Amino acid sequence: MSKTYASFISIGAYVPKKVLTNQMLEKMVDTTDEWIKKRTGIETRHIAESDEYTSDMGYEAGKLAIERSGLSIDDIDLVLCATVTPDYFNMPSTACIISDKLGIKNVQAFDISAACSGFVYLLSIAKAFIESGMKKNILIIGSEKFSSIVDYTDRGTCILFGDGAGAAIISATEDKTKAMIDIHASADGSYSDFLVTPAPGSVNPVSQKVIDKGLNFVKMKGNETFKLAVKTLTKDVKHILEKNNIASKDILHFIPHQANYRIIKAVGDALKFNEEQVVVTVHKYGNTSAASIPMAINDIYESGRLKYGELMLLDTFGGGLTWASALVIFAGKK
Ligand code: ACO
Repeated sequence: MSKTYASFISIGAYVPKKVLTNQMLEKMVDTTDEWIKKRTGIETRHIAESDEYTSDMGYEAGKLAIERSGLSIDDIDLVLCATVTPDYFNMPSTACIISDKLGIKNVQAFDISAACSGFVYLLSIAKAFIESGMKKNILIIGSEKFSSIVDYTDRGTCILFGDGAGAAIISATEDKTKAMIDIHASADGSYSDFLVTPAPGSVNPVSQKVIDKGLNFVKMKGNETFKLAVKTLTKDVKHILEKNNIASKDILHFIPHQANYRIIKAVGDALKFNEEQVVVTVHKYGNTSAASIPMAINDIYESGRLKYGELMLLDTFGGGLTWASALVIFAGKK
């Protein structure tokens, strides 16, 4: 019997219209355009409207990914959303809301929480569902309205994050040349205090104390996270390349998580990637967490840089702490 593989057959993204520039942030907190550019590489980030939600952005990205796949709504048999800024913190899941907005009925839908690693985590889940024969066409979405948990008086975090969404269709194929090659996803909860949104949750249910102390905002140990990110991302990429006997020079598109240009540069240099191989979008979108990697893939797809059959290396790191890397053939329309 022939084997079933999981194939990455389309990409889509959504970027909110409103732009938050470094110059605007200079007026909000004690920072400068020069500091932000030098320490992070970020120049602008996009911010959703107050009545534009994570599910709205996920819907737009998902709709585009479905259109580009050539499939119909009825072909989709699983909807997965990675987000740490869901429409509702408890229920319903954002995946359920997106399914409804897309008109996808009676299929399994759920969210996962893996912060910036969410999209690559979803790739591993989709791969497992497809290779086991349980599902055939899976819509995966990374969508974040990070502005809803950012404290715009905290200069250590508010300069970094933006909003947006990216989505992909992962489908079953028997053609091994279209298959996702490998995915490695991992976590270490002993660093859970590096990146945390203390409320709302069972530890800190909503109360006046939560509001007064701003516990509903993301808190980050930036410098510690930075150092661990460089070390972990580099190690993880080395591991997946060696395991699959692939050299750095054979990677056409190295797509790292877009958190800070200095992290991207340090990892790229350690792995001997040249500038043409490394995809950078952090200057215009900032860190969009689970949406960062699919938004970057969509950028190179729309600019004509990503073509059918090309090899991508994805590498990500985020709260949890979580990290993940993936070797993926882009099997979108020729
Ligand atoms: N403007 C001006 N000065 C600032 C700013 C700012 N926006 N932010 C911090 N500073 C100051 C600090 O107060 C400190 O001042 P001091 O020396 O007087 O105490 C100085 O700059 C250096 O601070 P550091 O925190 O050491 O600066 P660093 O070079 O580490 O840059 C940054 C901070 C940009 C946050 C960086 O650490 C970073 O990018 N961290 C990693 C983020 C990341 O990878 N997150 C993972 C994914 S996110 C997710 O999963 C959701």
